Amino acid sequence: MTPLVIAIDGPAAAGKGTLARRIAAHLGLPYLDTGLLYRAVGRRVLDRGADPRDAAIAEAEARALDPADLDRPDLRGPQADHAASAVAAIPAVRAALLEFQRSFGRARGAVLDGRDIGTVVFPEAAVKLFVTASPEERARRRFLELRGRGIAADPDQVLAEIRDRDAQDANRPVAPLKPAPDAIVIDTTALDADAAFAVALAEIGQRLAGR
Ligand code: CDP
Repeated sequence: MTPLVIAIDGPAAAGKGTLARRIAAHLGLPYLDTGLLYRAVGRRVLDRGADPRDAAIAEAEARALDPADLDRPDLRGPQADHAASAVAAIPAVRAALLEFQRSFGRARGAVLDGRDIGTVVFPEAAVKLFVTASPEERARRRFLELRGRGIAADPDQVLAEIRDRDAQDANRPVAPLKPAPDAIVIDTTALDADAAFAVALAEIGQRLAGR
């Protein structure tokens, strides 16, 4: 039997990570936050004092990525967000990270969250969720998350950065952010984490019953 893969895609701060982690724990599946891969590559490029838009350097750093890089403490925050989104627009970086993601999912099944899991990485995934929320609500959540981590932020600036990254992720020619045609779209604007989890579980149950 093919191992169960659940793909969860959506824009920044839509609540994918929280949801994906809970679904994985509930179903006893491994979980991979694929955004961390792009974040770690972005960080490695910044460590070299290079521009994250530099395709040759970013590709070299993606190929040299060490799983320990995913545990770095500096993968979140505006600079890391921006560097991740910049390296993620480079086709050779995406190609270098593809096999890692596929092997992870194929080994024992998995829940993976990102931008292109249902469209590119696992187009054959048994269940695809596209988790979204209004930009204002996502900015509010990111602001609270930053504040919770003791990082001072300006709410308007957070909203502007979310909008920028949405545009950069959705308009890039390679693996742009968009729902797979067979994805179940879950709008969490008016849902808290528990309500989003309940909706997702019900949808997953229906999808799996129809397999
Ligand atoms: O947590 P947040 O939604 O802010 O970001 P993330 O999921 O960690 O992703 C960071 C950046 O990596 C995104 O802005 C995308 O540009 C990129 N990314 C991607 O292109 N493909 C993925 N599968 C995951 C992330």
